[in-house]
Amino acid sequence: ASSARAQAAGFGFQPIGIATDHEIHVPEGYAWKPLVRWGDPLFSDAQGAYSSETGVPVAMSDRVFGENTDGMELFEVDGKQLIAVNSEYVNPRINLPAASEGTPRDADEVTLLKNMQGVTVMEIADQGDGYGVVIDSPYNRRITHETQMIMDGPAAGSDLVKTNADPDGMSPKGTMNNCGSGKTLWGTYLTCEENFNGYFGTTAEKAPTEGEVRYGIGGQSRYAYEIYDARYDLSKEPNEPHRHGWITEIDPADPESTPVKHTALGRFKHENAEMVQAADGRIIVYMGDDERGEFMYRYVSNGTYEAGGATDGLLSDGTLYVARFNDDMTGEWLALTPDTTGMSVEEILVFSRIAASKVGATTMDRPEWIAANPLKVEAYCALTNNKNRGVKPNAGGDDTAVNGPNPRETNNFGQIVRWRPEGEDHGADTFAWDLYVMAGNPTVYDNEYAGSDNITEGNMFNSPDGMAFDTKGMLWIQTDGDDDNEGEFAGMGNNQMLVGNTETGEIARFLTAPNGAEVTGLCWSADLKTAFVGIQHPGGAWPDGNGKPRSSVIAVWREDGAEIG
Ligand code: FEO
Ligand code: CA
Ligand code: CA
Ligand code: CA
Repeated sequence: ASSARAQAAGFGFQPIGIATDHEIHVPEGYAWKPLVRWGDPLFSDAQGAYSSETGVPVAMSDRVFGENTDGMELFEVDGKQLIAVNSEYVNPRINLPAASEGTPRDADEVTLLKNMQGVTVMEIADQGDGYGVVIDSPYNRRITHETQMIMDGPAAGSDLVKTNADPDGMSPKGTMNNCGSGKTLWGTYLTCEENFNGYFGTTAEKAPTEGEVRYGIGGQSRYAYEIYDARYDLSKEPNEPHRHGWITEIDPADPESTPVKHTALGRFKHENAEMVQAADGRIIVYMGDDERGEFMYRYVSNGTYEAGGATDGLLSDGTLYVARFNDDMTGEWLALTPDTTGMSVEEILVFSRIAASKVGATTMDRPEWIAANPLKVEAYCALTNNKNRGVKPNAGGDDTAVNGPNPRETNNFGQIVRWRPEGEDHGADTFAWDLYVMAGNPTVYDNEYAGSDNITEGNMFNSPDGMAFDTKGMLWIQTDGDDDNEGEFAGMGNNQMLVGNTETGEIARFLTAPNGAEVTGLCWSADLKTAFVGIQHPGGAWPDGNGKPRSSVIAVWREDGAEIG
C-alpha cells in the first residue's frame, strides 16, 4: 500500500527508512558510486597524489578535487558535460599533518588549505562503467582564494573595496567559503560566498568597525592565514573583507575567463542564487543570508533578457530588495535605495545587512537554499533552524522574536517557506506566503514541534538546507542537521535527501548519508538519468573504508535506466 501511495504521489521509488551507519542508502532499484572524492586528480600529473595517510601534497593541491563539496551545477558545452562545483571550507585536521594540531605552521600549509577550497570546473563522462571525471579535459580548472577576478556593479572601484594590492578596487583575488550555487539563464555558474568573515584576523590591536561587527569579522580567524599573508590581516588591509561575501560568476565554457564578482547582488553570507525571470523579461535572483535573524533578498535587473541575447549589465545594473513577511500571510519586497536607507549605493551593497535592518525586513531562521518551481510561479526557501532566538549574534537591533514564517521559539527542526508572487510574476513587489513544511517529530511531541501534517514517522528530518527542483516539478530537499538519532531527533537518523510533491505536500525519503555528513549540492546529467549528489564532511572512513574520510560527489541512477530527474 505504501508503494502504491508513493507511486500516486509521483515518487518513482519506494521511500527508504532512516540509517545510522557510515554508508549511503538509496531506494531499491537504484545504485550509486562516487563520481569524485577529495584529492582525486583532475589532471594526469596529480594521479596518485592522494595518500590515505597523508592526504594531498601542497604541490598538487590545485590539481585535484577540493574538500567539502557543496553547491554544483551541470552545463552542456559543445556536446560535453561540465560540472562546476564548490568546495566550501577545509578541515585542517584532515589536510595537515597531525603535528600541526589543525593550525598551519608555515606558508606552504596555508597554501595547501587555500587550494583545497574554492571552485572546481570539470568535464564528466560515462565511459562505460558509470560517470567519472575526464582527466586532463581542457575545461578542467581550479579556482581558489588566489585566482584573479574582477568586480562590477556600483560598488566596484569604490573606496570601500580598495586595497594596497588593488588601489583601483576593481581586481580582487579569490572566492572563498563557496556554499550554494546558481545557474544563469545564459549558461554560466554562480558561486556564493558564505562565511567569508572567518578568514580574516589581525596581528595588531584594532577596534572593530560597525561593518565588522555586523558581519562577524575579527577575533580568531579560522585558519591563521593572517600570520603568513598580509592580505588577510585586518590591521593592514581593513578593506579586504569587503571584497568577499559576493555572488561570483564563472564561465565554465571558457577556462581562460576571469571570474566576476557582482556587487549589485549585495554582500552578505550568501547561501545560493536562484535565477528566474519577471514577466517582462527582467532578471530576478533570489538569495538567502544564512545567519540567525538575517534576511532573504531579491535582485531585479533593469535590463531584460531574451534567450541567446545580450547579457551586459544584467547582473550589474539593478535593484536589491529585502523581504518582509506579514503575519496575514502576505509579504513585500522592500527596495534598498539611498532614499529608503539613508546610505549611499556603495554602502548599501557592501553593508547590505545594515541597509536591510533600516527598512524593516523580517528576521528569519537562517535562510539557506532558495528553489523556484520551474512549472509554476512560486519559490521556496529552506529556513534551516534557529537555536538562539532573541540573541542576534551581530549588531542591528532587529526584533528576532517569532514571526509569521518563523513561528517556533526554539527551532531545532526548521521549516520551508513558499511564496507566490502577485499576478504570477516574479517581478511583482508583493506576494502571498505559506509554510510548505514545518519539520518536527510527531513521535516525541504532540504540539507545534510535531511538525506540519505532512511530517510522519516515516519521513522525519531536521534542518532542511539544500534544495532544487527537478524538471518534473518535484522538490528535492537535502538536510544538514543533528544526526545523533537521540532525544527529539530520535527516528530521524543520518542526514538525508528527500523528495517533496509540492501539490500534495507529500514528502518521501530517497537517500541517507553516512553518519557525520550533510547532503548538499544536486544536479543532473544531461539525459536526466543520473543525479549527482554532494556528501560533505562525512565521518568514519567513508567512502574508501580506510584512511581519512573524503567529502565526495556521488552519482545515483536507476538500474532500469529510467530518468531520475
Ligand atoms: Fe554553507 Fe548555509 O550553508
Ligand atoms: Ca548550506
Ligand atoms: Ca546548513
Ligand atoms: Ca556545510
